[in-house]
Amino acid sequence: MKKIVILISGRGSNMQALLEADLPCTIAAVISNRADAAGLDVAKARGIATAVVAHKDYPDRASFDAALQREIDTFTPDFVVLAGFMRILTDAFVIHYLGRLVNIHPSLLPAYTGTHTHERALADGVKIHGCSVHFVTPELDGGPIIIQAAVPVMRNDTAATLSARVLHEEHRIYPQALRWLCRKQVWLDEHGKVASDRLEQPGAALVSPGLS
Ligand code: GAR
Repeated sequence: MKKIVILISGRGSNMQALLEADLPCTIAAVISNRADAAGLDVAKARGIATAVVAHKDYPDRASFDAALQREIDTFTPDFVVLAGFMRILTDAFVIHYLGRLVNIHPSLLPAYTGTHTHERALADGVKIHGCSVHFVTPELDGGPIIIQAAVPVMRNDTAATLSARVLHEEHRIYPQALRWLCRKQVWLDEHGKVASDRLEQPGAALVSPGLS
């Protein structure tokens, strides 16, 4: 059975979706860079090991990432899963886990890397927005994409309503991505591309606003 470690910084709703998904892997631990991350209590309540590596205790990114890596590696995970982990990681850390480190991002990458994705999508007037699960590479939010979900942007949307619509899809696609990875149906190949041996299922087209 594959083993994963989940990294969070706050609420942990994606982490919770993974815990509830009955994945074909062991969730060895949930680690946070913040002791007050609400998700830690959710993990503890389910009997999952938790740890805190507080970024504030380290003078720079390199020493924090080295300490985080040491903590993660005590659990010998096959995959390290960023679920609302709000720290930029050093190249050394990312390269240590290349092909084993995945992230969920609240936009249809490569659009809207970084933060405030919903506000920026609304300001641009895009009609379709969404979320992406990708392998992490040294380029911020730029790694090969495993799965995406698109949602319509409605005329009266606020960042809060749009974010809730996107989050609902995040909770569906992250467990799916982990299922594929843990079953070795999807992987990062030697050319740095996402490879798969599963039969592609066509998704439905989303037209927004809908045709009348
Ligand atoms: C999620 O929307 C996730 O995609 C986003 O933070 C939120 C965490 O929510 N991640 C990023 O923006 C990473 N750059 P959660 O703690 O409830 O899972």
